Amino acid sequence: GKVKVRVPGTSANMGPGFDSIGLALSIYNYIEAEETESGLCIEVLDAETKEFLPTDEKNLVYKSMKYLFDKADYRPKGLKLVLNSEVPVTRGLGSSSACIVGGLACANELSGKPFSSREIMAMATQIEGHSDNVCAAVSGGFTVSVFQKDEIFYYSHKMNGDLKFLVLIPDYAVTTQKARNTLPGYYPRRDVSFNISHASLLVASMVSGNYENLLCAMDDRVHEPYRKVFIDGYPKIYNKLKSYGSLGTYISGSGPTLVSVVEADDAELFYEDIYEYMQKAHPTWTVKLL
Ligand code: HSE
Repeated sequence: GKVKVRVPGTSANMGPGFDSIGLALSIYNYIEAEETESGLCIEVLDAETKEFLPTDEKNLVYKSMKYLFDKADYRPKGLKLVLNSEVPVTRGLGSSSACIVGGLACANELSGKPFSSREIMAMATQIEGHSDNVCAAVSGGFTVSVFQKDEIFYYSHKMNGDLKFLVLIPDYAVTTQKARNTLPGYYPRRDVSFNISHASLLVASMVSGNYENLLCAMDDRVHEPYRKVFIDGYPKIYNKLKSYGSLGTYISGSGPTLVSVVEADDAELFYEDIYEYMQKAHPTWTVKLL
């Protein structure tokens, strides 16, 4: 058989929702998988990811497929994969989750669909280590997930298009491992209660469509204070976005990309203003309205 899947890039945390909240963005990783008579052939079409993605057994899409085939006890003779991703690598936009989820989804189709999408999410979380990006990559929309005792419990809210996301992508990488290593192992109770209240308000705002509390709700004390330092010019960019009418700005996943939320009606103007500012202040960054 032959299958094609499209998996979105995702933005995790959204401020206070560390390892739980996720958002699917309209950029995609396209994967084609075909069973062949023998061997493994991996073709990477886009030039940028080509540099990063191995084309042998170490490839993350392939490793994820193998993980599912083993669980399903399915043995294809050979495989051909064609990968084409718009999601930049090691920028905090869920590129690894998109590879894992894409690989699992292809393998599930090829082996006769033995697993549900909830089981796919749980497998992807086992591979990735946290559920935020994978949940949004599988179900789309704005998601909240809890991974507990090998099972995933989640809610996915379909966005109706009233919000746009301005994505500011630096031209340098920060690995998730490095960005996680800088975080404390324990937090004082005041930070815990700060994050619980803010994450709760964030979910209520996103799901109700009542966005007046978003700016406050996106504040975080668990990871952003420790990760800001990896982002050149963070305070200035943050204030600029706020002064141009952003509903809130956060570090996407483990960074270094920033995501600024804006009302769809104001989005084009907002994009033009920020694009102009970034051209002067950080000309090497990529700015996208998604
Ligand atoms: N929640 C994770 C983190 C996302 O912030 O480290 C990174 O992929």
